[in-house]
Formats: sequence, C-alpha cells, structure tokens
Amino acid sequence: MTHSVTVRVPAKVNAQLAVGAPRPDGFHDLANVFLAVGLHDEVTVTPADELRVTCSGPDADQVPLDTTNLAARAAIALAARHGIEPAVHIHIAKDIPVAGGMAGGSADGAGALLACDALWSTGATRDELLAICAQLGSDVPFSLIGGAALGVGRGEQLTPLEVGGTFHWVFAVADGGLSTPAVYGEFDRLTAGTDVPEPAPSPALLAALRDGDTAALADVLGNDLQPAALSLRPSLADTLAAGTAAGALAALVSGSGPTTAFLVSDAESAHKVADALRTSGTCREARTAVAPAPGATVV
Ligand code: C5P
Repeated sequence: MTHSVTVRVPAKVNAQLAVGAPRPDGFHDLANVFLAVGLHDEVTVTPADELRVTCSGPDADQVPLDTTNLAARAAIALAARHGIEPAVHIHIAKDIPVAGGMAGGSADGAGALLACDALWSTGATRDELLAICAQLGSDVPFSLIGGAALGVGRGEQLTPLEVGGTFHWVFAVADGGLSTPAVYGEFDRLTAGTDVPEPAPSPALLAALRDGDTAALADVLGNDLQPAALSLRPSLADTLAAGTAAGALAALVSGSGPTTAFLVSDAESAHKVADALRTSGTCREARTAVAPAPGATVV
C-alpha cells in the first residue's frame, strides 16, 4: 500500500542577527537569535518511481522544483547515507513567503528530511538529522528544532533558549525576494574598512525572551543585515515606517529580507497593524503570527 508522510514546519524571524566580518570560507560568524513563528509550510512525501518535487500555494511558481530545492537535497542526502534511492514525490504546500528572509526554503529542507526519515524508517538519531540539516544550509537545523534558539558559527550551532511567554508579530510580505548572498555581499561592501565587532548575543534580549516581556524585547531587537537589505531595497523603509505609525512596538527587516517584521503588544494590535500595512500600499500582503512555534512535526 502506498503511504505518505506529512510534516508541518515553521517560518522564523531573527530577534537578533549579529553579523561578524567575512570568514575565509566566505560565510560570516553570527550570533543569531532564532524565533520560530506560526506561519507554516507542509511537506508531504510519497513513494514514487523517482525523485520529483511539486509545490502549491500562491507563490508556488517562484519555488524551484529541481535539485536546487532544499527539500530535494534533503531527500538525496538522507537516502545516500542509508544506501537507498531517493524515490519519492515531495509535495510542498507553501505558505511561508518565498526568498523572504523567513527561512522558507530551509523549512522545506528540514520538513522533507523528517518526512523521508519517517517514510523510510531510517532510524536516524536527532543528531544525525541535525548534521544533515547543517550541510543543507545555515538555517536548516533551526527549522527542525523550532522554538527559540541561539545559533552561532554560521548559525547552525544551536543552543535552545527558554521563552517565558507568547510574542505577537505582523509580517509584511514584499513584492519579489532578495538573494541572501547578495545581502551578505552588500553587508561586506557597507562595512568594508570598518572594524566589524565579534558577534555576541545580547543579554538584555535573552532576558526579555526568558521573561516573555514584549516591551523589553521591542527595545532590543536588532538585525545587522538591515542596512544592507535597505540599501538593496530602499522602499522597505516605507514599510517599516507604516508599521511603526500603526502602533507596532518595534519594526525590523526579517533576516536578509525583504519581509519586514513588526512586534506588537497583543492579537488586537496585530490585526490593526496588519490592516494598516495592507492599506499602506507599501507591501504585497500582511500576515499575523505568534511565536514561539514548535519545530518540524509529523502530522
Ligand atoms: O547557509 P546558506 O546556504 O543558507 O547560506 C546562503 C548564503 O548566505 C551563503 O552562500 C553566504 O553567502 C551567506 N551566508 C553567510 N554567512 C552565514 C550564513 C549565510 O555569509 N552565516
């Protein structure tokens, strides 16, 4: 009997993204405080004659269906480790903005990995899965674990963080994506000749998360990639201003952008800010979500 496995996997926002100078391998050391948010993709794997990827959802046409898709690469990596063929149909029901700085591609990688692991009963340990995730991309391990975590190295070395409450967010989805390497390249251009400090987590930010204190968190959110994302997409400044004018406690670019993230006090404020963003003409769409959300989960 043909059976299938579906995994639900969250998007992320970076409460803090501290970026160091470029390393010899071209990556940047980070202090990356990840927070999983309740926007999800669902990845379903079904036995098939050969590897095939399909995608549904409003932005499905922007998702690559070849082996550059992290979901395909996850299946290939897990199959290779276990000496089997990656003969699966991977379907991605996409709800996370594409190329938006919310780890949508990473989510699909982690989701496909967990789904194939269940489908093939590989019995891989959590550490084995996390090691494959780290090979696939810097943000993929966090998509697997979810919740909140500090990522160091290139972001793949995770320490789970305690979160003492629920945080309400609004996300403004921009038209078109931004390339992560291009944003890091712009960061390098903007910081060339300056002394880029070693990235370190903010103690005040970790305390705000632990205390579930939204107002304190709003004061210390930070993203070192924001000037680079704004330099490549100056119109994001208008989106940030629109959300702030509507009552957001803090506004920042999500990861490498171009999605912008707004921390708000409660669900009511979230709806008000989302409505204002929708009518502002500064974004394509506005979504509300709460954090933290669980990591990749078989449903
Ligand atoms: O790890 P991942 O493949 O997601 O990274 C995509 C690109 O983002 C890298 O090729 C690199 O240009 C940039 N990057 C970086 N430093 C990191 C993570 C990503 O420079 N810590």
